[in-house]
Amino acid sequence: MRGAEPLLRVGGLHKSFTVDGRHLPVLTDCSLEVGRGEVVAIVGRSGSGKSTLLNMIGLLDAADGGEHVFDGVDVTRLGEGGRARLRNAGIGFVFQTFHLLERRTALANVCVPMVLGGVPASRRRAHGRRLLESVGLQDRITSRPHQLSGGEQQRVALARALSMEPAMVLADEPTGALDGTTSDQIIEQLLAQARTRGTAVVIVTHEPSVAAAADRRIAIEEGRTRPVG
Ligand SMILES: Nc1ncnc2c1ncn2[C@@H]1O[C@H](COP(=O)(O)OP(=O)(O)OP(=O)(O)O)[C@@H](O)[C@H]1O
Ligand SMILES: [Mg+2]
Repeated sequence: MRGAEPLLRVGGLHKSFTVDGRHLPVLTDCSLEVGRGEVVAIVGRSGSGKSTLLNMIGLLDAADGGEHVFDGVDVTRLGEGGRARLRNAGIGFVFQTFHLLERRTALANVCVPMVLGGVPASRRRAHGRRLLESVGLQDRITSRPHQLSGGEQQRVALARALSMEPAMVLADEPTGALDGTTSDQIIEQLLAQARTRGTAVVIVTHEPSVAAAADRRIAIEEGRTRPVG
């Protein structure tokens, strides 16, 4: 049966940094599988390597070694260009601080991945508007980030993350800068995306309620991944 292969498969992944000539092993043995439409939370104390792992599965940074297959592609064989193309087409990002372009409108921000992906201008504007509408910001398409609240900015970031209809969305503490109610709305929208569109969602979080809402939880401890309740 097809579908047995997970969307993301990472095995024995390891990563070190060199800081002031000192070798700093951050991840020593990380393994993780994420299926299509699955919501996985990554937990662990500050400095345990959660963002480092997310950057690698998001193809923003390369591991030192290990197995890494995304959407049937052996990522370890790709060069920088191939990784960038796979990332833009297949992976959406939501960060703790929203990483929006300050001088651009909400609509222009949502359209950035589509510009990179070569989507024609008329199509990307129409799609961008629909996405902003889906996060309740249809009246704010011309607003600049500084004219929006934190929750609104995060909704723009979420719309941007979904603009290429990625197979996987990665969220690094997406609600860390938001109040409880706004935070719940962002999580609800991520979960809805997984349920209705089959998008895989990986969320790094310190919040027990967010971790509890995921299908599975993975902890990082001493450089290793471990499934948790
Ligand atoms: N580019 C880098 N160069 C050197 N060290 C780094 C680099 N990136 C991360 N580190 C180190 O790797 C360790 C893990 O960092 P990481 O940001 O992944 O932690 P985290 O689990 O996301 O923490 P937090 O919960 O505080 O966000 C830290 O000790 C950090 O200093
Ligand atoms: Mg982090």
